[in-house]
Amino acid sequence: MGNKITNICCIGAGYVGGPTMAVIAAKCPHIKVTIVDLNVARIAAWNDENLDNLPVYEPGLAEIVSQARGRNLFFTTEVEKAIDEAQMIFISVNTPTKTYGLGKGKAADLKYIELCARQIAAVSKNDKIVVEKSTLPVRTAEAVRSILDNTGNGVKFQILSNPEFLAEGTAVEDLLSPDRVLIGGDTDEEGQAAIKALADVYAEWIPRERILTTNVWSSELSKLTANAFLAQRVSSINAMSELCEKTGADVNEVARAIGMDSRIGPKFLKASVGFGGSCFQKDILNLVYIAKSYGLNEVADYWEQVVIMNDHQKVRFAAKIVKTLYNTVSGKKIAFLGWAFKKDTNDTRESAAIQVADELLYEQANIAVFDPKVEEDKIQADLNYLDTRTKEENAKLATAFQDPYEACKDAHAIAVLTEWDEFKEYDWQRIYDNMKKPAFVFDGRAILDGKKLTDIGFVFHVIGK
Ligand code: UDX
Ligand code: UDX
Ligand code: ADP
Repeated sequence: MGNKITNICCIGAGYVGGPTMAVIAAKCPHIKVTIVDLNVARIAAWNDENLDNLPVYEPGLAEIVSQARGRNLFFTTEVEKAIDEAQMIFISVNTPTKTYGLGKGKAADLKYIELCARQIAAVSKNDKIVVEKSTLPVRTAEAVRSILDNTGNGVKFQILSNPEFLAEGTAVEDLLSPDRVLIGGDTDEEGQAAIKALADVYAEWIPRERILTTNVWSSELSKLTANAFLAQRVSSINAMSELCEKTGADVNEVARAIGMDSRIGPKFLKASVGFGGSCFQKDILNLVYIAKSYGLNEVADYWEQVVIMNDHQKVRFAAKIVKTLYNTVSGKKIAFLGWAFKKDTNDTRESAAIQVADELLYEQANIAVFDPKVEEDKIQADLNYLDTRTKEENAKLATAFQDPYEACKDAHAIAVLTEWDEFKEYDWQRIYDNMKKPAFVFDGRAILDGKKLTDIGFVFHVIGK
């Protein structure tokens, strides 16, 4: 080991594995990169001739994939073959929050990670470097090591932690020029050699000073910490948004004023209807669970409040709609602009839209959704996953539209849930003309021009003012 890497396998062709490996392949033509997944449909979509059908939408991703696919980037369901041939194996499978048993609702479900480790151990006939790419609780590498060492064929494994810091919607950009790459490994000589082998891969396009190396535990914990700090900023500004609404302060002005303090900085201070995505909530709950398991109750409570605040922000947004619409939305059409958890992605995991919709469905509203990248079946699946009412009821009360003007037609109110740029460019006069009056807009992302809308005749409400 420690030799130059020429063959990489990645288990998991999702939002993290797909873009990350595509960029590695594009930047390292001498490395054969094979991405495997159990999900046959997903692999077929990655191999689709038509690049519009890739399973992950990210600006710039299709170009990168078309550049490398078939040359040194391959997508396949032949997991064992790819593991066998690789010198380095990335584990990039999902680690959802447990929905059953001990730690239900908080702990990360590591069953997919364990399955991967067992499969790698069973198949490997020579020494390999195993890289944890998925976000994992601190000390997961210990479990992975134990499985590899106890079920393998006597070959040697090095385990590295290399957490992904890309944000969806800017994944390609983040991968091409990351603030930093973090690699954690064992402190002994073999561990350091493995770290170097992976660092050399990234050094093909990333300056060495941005490649940070630590021990495994620091690396695992840094990922959770980074997401917790980012989410905390959003919850902090969201907490202030509610106070702004009561006091006449404007949250955007407050954010600008504090953001110019270089100790605070301007980023991640955008008040919203609440953060979503596959990472923030999951990672914080995970952190809470880990803290509790060490008996650190104050630490756990401190971080849990970030999630509690986020839930509150979603619930209060829905409550404001109900209250403003004369305390009843029963039978009223409410148009949702946006369903994805942020713009420029088709990912809807933990999106604020889901919970806001659920709250309004409790009140018997009819929800009409338009999102430029999210289809009806995903919206229904997200609602059904909550298990708060039957599939049939969800399908009856919530409908997806292909056209934003159709979604808004005859609506009593419009709620902006995602900050897609195109929403700003719509013909708002046309939308107004076709709505019930008074026509309400609730801007959960503070992207619309409030003055323009008020001049047209809308009753305009925005987070934090
Ligand atoms: C603070 C604000 O920084 C300043 O802008 C405002 O005008 C007044 O309040 P001050 O209280 O004088 O200033 O000191 P500051 O440097 O902010 O430190 C406050 C406390 O936080 C100190 O006890 C300091 O030791 C502690 N601190 C600060 C840390 O423990 N860690 C840090 O990283 C920074
Ligand atoms: C996040 C981290 O940014 C990334 O480093 C990590 O690897 C994975 O988790 P992601 O979930 O893709 O990335 O998106 P991010 O841009 O962080 O946004 C998360 C959520 O916070 C979104 O719902 C977004 O709309 C919301 N948000 C973000 C705000 O509401 N206000 C902000 O100022 C910033
Ligand atoms: P992320 O956002 O972390 O990338 P995704 O859910 O988008 O999460 O992707 C994870 C992928 O990992 C899924 O496509 C899933 O089918 C795949 N996967 C999970 N377990 C295994 C496994 N044991 N072998 C191969 N693929 C797996």
